[in-house]
Amino acid sequence: MLKLLYVLLSECAESTLRNFRKLAAKSTPVDPKIMNDLKVDGVSVQEDFLTSQQCDEYIAKIEKIIASGSSNIWKDSAGADNRIYFAETLDDKFAEFFETPKIRQILSRYTGTEKPKGMLLASRITAKEGNLGSGGGWHRDSPISHQFKAVCYLSDVTANNGPFQFIKSSHTKFAVLKAYFNKLLKVGSNRFTDLEIEKYCSEEEKEVVSFTAKKGSIIFADTKGIHRGKPLTEGKRYVLFCYFWHNEIPDHFNSLKQEEA
Ligand SMILES: [Fe+2]
Repeated sequence: MLKLLYVLLSECAESTLRNFRKLAAKSTPVDPKIMNDLKVDGVSVQEDFLTSQQCDEYIAKIEKIIASGSSNIWKDSAGADNRIYFAETLDDKFAEFFETPKIRQILSRYTGTEKPKGMLLASRITAKEGNLGSGGGWHRDSPISHQFKAVCYLSDVTANNGPFQFIKSSHTKFAVLKAYFNKLLKVGSNRFTDLEIEKYCSEEEKEVVSFTAKKGSIIFADTKGIHRGKPLTEGKRYVLFCYFWHNEIPDHFNSLKQEEA
């Protein structure tokens, strides 16, 4: 009960702080459909954000960095997921993507964060035995704070090569608190089993959406909503992820930084 009260108070504080930030931020023009999708569903997709040629150039850069073995690359235990965190510090083209004005404008409108701390993650995940998919299973990036992430597919993504999956409208404060009151999810938890998710979706009538899309598509998501990368059964998937925070990059990302040139 005390834990639930703490969560309730934290949710109220989070709302107040974010709304103040939004009021103070300069108003930037953003496609109203994207803002409405984010508010209602927690997720929005746009095709052709990058051209096929741009995607191929980014893939070539990722392959080159992984093959060289000279950068700081995180791998999962199955050896399926290869993640180049802080890729923007390795290459000007990655830095250019990370600073794309349109992404920053949506971030600012949605969270009120105008000068974020963050990083670009460039990743390649392959269909190896035992892979859990990108993100290591169902989770919220934060159980309390609304977070904005941009996920750009560099290769075509089908149902089999690891689409981003999101439970529509699981990001709202109402949905979060209702799942606690109905004892479907543990209070304050941010990692979930497949069984918990199955039960949550059936009892709360929620829908898991798999974002299959062609290369160059971008997904804007509030990653407080429950999401994962679906485990791959074939092929591979290349993605660029923009991570943002209002204050500081959490300490646990320190060991994933690239060495200064
Ligand atoms: Fe995540």
